[in-house]
Amino acid sequence: MLDELQELKDTSLRELEDIVDLDQLEEWRIEYLGSKGRLTQLMRGIGQLPPEERPEAGKVGNRVKNALQSAYNETTERLKREALEHALEADRVDVTLPGRLATLGRLHLSTQTLRQIYDIFAEMGFQVYRSPDVETDEYNFELLNIPKHHPARDMQDTFYIDEERLLRTHTSPGQIWAMREYYPEPIRVILPGMCYRYEQITARSEIMFHQVEGLAVGHNITMADLKGTLINFAQRMFGEDTRVRFRASYFPFTEPSAEMDVECFICDGEGCTVCKYTGWLEVLGSGMVHPQVLRNGGYDPAAYTGYAFGMGPERIAMLQHGIDDIRFFWNNDLRFLEQF
Ligand code: PHE
Repeated sequence: MLDELQELKDTSLRELEDIVDLDQLEEWRIEYLGSKGRLTQLMRGIGQLPPEERPEAGKVGNRVKNALQSAYNETTERLKREALEHALEADRVDVTLPGRLATLGRLHLSTQTLRQIYDIFAEMGFQVYRSPDVETDEYNFELLNIPKHHPARDMQDTFYIDEERLLRTHTSPGQIWAMREYYPEPIRVILPGMCYRYEQITARSEIMFHQVEGLAVGHNITMADLKGTLINFAQRMFGEDTRVRFRASYFPFTEPSAEMDVECFICDGEGCTVCKYTGWLEVLGSGMVHPQVLRNGGYDPAAYTGYAFGMGPERIAMLQHGIDDIRFFWNNDLRFLEQF
C-alpha cells in the first residue's frame, strides 16, 4: 500500500509538469483527486488493511493527498500566470517605434482660388457680399432683364424648386440684393457663391460651380473703370506681364457687354491644347450695368452708372493647373485634392 501511494504520487506529479492548460489540469484533477479518482480509490482500500498498518497508511495517504492538492493549486496559479503573460506578449507595443504622422487637412482648391480672388479685390476696395443660393425667378431672371421665354434662359438650364423658387444659375441676382441694400450709396462689392445648373455632368460642365460676381455702382463710372479694374485683376492673378483682350459679347443685364480673355499662360500665346491654338483663354464676362437693372436695384440710371463682371474660379483653377476634367472638384478623391 505504501509503495502504491508513493508510486501514485510520483507519476501524478510527473504528469503535472507536462500540463500546459487549464483543461488538461482539470482532467488531471478528476483522474487523481476526483471523488472517483485514483487516490480516493486507493485510500478506500486502507479499511481492508490489517489494523496495525492502517494508521501509517492513513497518514501517508493524507500526506500524498495534501501534496497533490498543493501541487494542483500551484499549477493552477502557474497556468493562469502563463496565460496572462501570453496575452500581454500578444499585445506588446514597441514604444520606440516612430509615431504615425497625423494627416493635416487642407483647403480645397476652389477655396484657395476664391481666397486669391478675394485678396486681390479686397486690395482694390471691394467688400464681400453674400446673397442667397435659393432664389426667386424674379431675382435670378426677371430683374436682370431676362423675361420669361427670353432665349437667354436657354443659356442656363435651371433647377426649379417650385413655380417661383429655384437654385440660382449665376451670382448676378446678388447685384439686385446689393443695390437694394446700399441705395443710394455707391457700391463696390464682390459676390462669391455656388451656382447650379441642370446639365449633364461632363468633363466640361458640372451641375454646381462657384462664381465670383463683381459690382461697382456710383457716379461717373465708365467702361474705362471696368477695363482698368479687370486688367489689374488679371495681372495680379495671372502674372504682371499678362496681356488681356476684351471681346464684345452679350448679356441681358449689361450693355455694352464684353468677355475678357487673357493671353494663354500655358504657352505664352504660342498656341496649345489648353487655349485650343488660339493663344487666348476666356476668363470672365462683364459689362456696364444695364439701365433697367440699375432701376430695378433702385438707382436712377440718369444719375448713376456701374459695371459688373462674373468669373468661374473652378474654370480659372483648371486653366492654371492644367486640370482637364471639372468633375475632379466635387469627386472628393484625395489623390486629386492633395495635389493642391
Ligand atoms: N452672370 C453671367 C454668367 O453667368 C456672367 C456675368 C456677370 C456677365 C456679370 C456680365 C456681368 O455667365
